[in-house]
Amino acid sequence: MKRFAAMVCSHSPQRLGAPIRLVSLIGLFALLGAPVALTAAGKPEPRDPRLEIFSWWTAGGEAEGLAAMFEIYRAKYPTAQIINATVAGGAGSNAKAVLDTRMQSGNPPDSFQVHAGHELIDSWVRAGKMEPITFVFRENGWLNAFPKDLIDIISYKGEIYSVPVNIHRSNVLWYNKKIFADNGLVPPASFDQLVKVCDALATKGITPFALGDNGIWASVHLLESVLLSTMGPVRYKGLWTGATPWDGGELRTSLSRFATLLHYVNTDHATQSWDAAAQYVIDGKCAMTVMGDWVEGYFKAKGLTPNGEFGWVPFPGTKGSFMMLSDSFGLPRGAPDRDAAVKWLTVAASREGQDAFNPKKGSIPSRTDCNRSLYDAYLQSAMDSFRTDTIVPSVTHGAAAAEGWVSQIQDVIALFLCDLDVEKASAGLIAAAREYVR
Ligand code: GAL
Repeated sequence: MKRFAAMVCSHSPQRLGAPIRLVSLIGLFALLGAPVALTAAGKPEPRDPRLEIFSWWTAGGEAEGLAAMFEIYRAKYPTAQIINATVAGGAGSNAKAVLDTRMQSGNPPDSFQVHAGHELIDSWVRAGKMEPITFVFRENGWLNAFPKDLIDIISYKGEIYSVPVNIHRSNVLWYNKKIFADNGLVPPASFDQLVKVCDALATKGITPFALGDNGIWASVHLLESVLLSTMGPVRYKGLWTGATPWDGGELRTSLSRFATLLHYVNTDHATQSWDAAAQYVIDGKCAMTVMGDWVEGYFKAKGLTPNGEFGWVPFPGTKGSFMMLSDSFGLPRGAPDRDAAVKWLTVAASREGQDAFNPKKGSIPSRTDCNRSLYDAYLQSAMDSFRTDTIVPSVTHGAAAAEGWVSQIQDVIALFLCDLDVEKASAGLIAAAREYVR
C-alpha cells in the first residue's frame, strides 16, 4: 500500500484530468495485482459478498442437498459469489486434513462442515479457532427451535458454536428388496439372524455385504453398530464417558462379530467409497450395506424410492436405539467474509434452509418445527425413531469422542482388517481409551 501511495504522489495533480487520473490509478492497481475497483469519489467500491463453504459433500444426495441451500442463499443475496469448496472423501477422510492445514495457516473458509459434539468442541472451539454464534439463534428467536440436547453438544462455556443443519442416523442396514424377495429372505432383527441371512445369500453366490472402506472409516462405522448391538445403548454410551470399562468381554465379542461380518463383504472393499458400495446394492452385486442415512439421499439421487427398490431396518440388535450424528456449520475466527458467513449460518439454521436440504440429503431436520410432509417414508420413520428411541452418539462421525481418539481407533481397525486378531485389537482399543477417557 505504501508503495502505491509513493507512485501516486509522483504524478502532478495539475497535469492530470480527473478521469485520466482514475484510469491511471486503476491501471496501477492492476499492475500491483490489487484488483480494487474505485467509486467516482476515488474510494474502493464495496466488494460483492464472497462466501466460501467448505465441505466433503460431493456424492449423490449430499451434493444436491448442499446445492438446494445455496439456491436459497442466492435468492436472498443475488450479488453473492458462492465458492463451493468441496474435498471428496466420505466422512471428511480427506477434507479434514485440508481444513486443518488451512486453519493452521490462517486461511479459513468462511464456514465449514463439522460434526456436532466432540469434533466441533475439542478440535476447534477449545483451540480458540471459532467465534461464538449464539447471537444467530437469539436474534432470530431460534433458541427453542432445536432439541436442547443438541444445543448442549454444540455449546461451550454458555455459548453456541455452530448451526446443526441435520440429524443423521448411523445404525441402519439397507437392503435390496428384489434380492431379498427372490431369495425368500426377511430383513434380520438380531445378529444371529443376520449371519443366517448372510449364509443363505453366500450359498446362492450373492455377496451379502457391500462395504466401501477406502479411508477406513466405513469399517469403524460398521463396528460402532456392532458395539451398540452387542452392548445395548447404555453400556455403549458409557464407553465414551468412562462408565463402561473397555476391558469387559463385550468388546471381544463385538470384535469377533465384526470379524464374522467381514467374511461376507465384497473383496474390493478397501478401494471403494461408501457411495460405490451403495451402488453395488443398487446394481444387485451385493444385497445389503450398513451405512448412515446419507445412503438414502444417494439412492434417491439415483432414482430409487424408499420401500420400492430398497428397504431398511435398524442394524440387527439395535432396534430402539438411534445412533446419531449431526452435520453443522460454524464461524471460524478470521472468516474472510464474516458478514456473508453469518448470512449462510442463518440460512442453514432456518426452517426454509433445512426443509430444502434434508429431504435431498437423506437426513432429518435438526429443527423441531419443520414440515414433515416434505419428507419421504424413510425420513418420517427416522423422525419417529428420533423422538422415541434412546439416542446414542456416533463415534465415527464426531459425536462421541475427540478426533484424536477416533483416529487411534481407525488405526487399530486398519490392522484388524488384515489380521483379524481380536486380542491385539482389544488391547489397542483399551490403550486408546485409557488415553482419552477422563
Ligand atoms: C458423514 C457426514 C455425512 C456424509 C457422510 C459421507 O461424516 O456426516 O453428512 O457426508 O459423512 O460422506
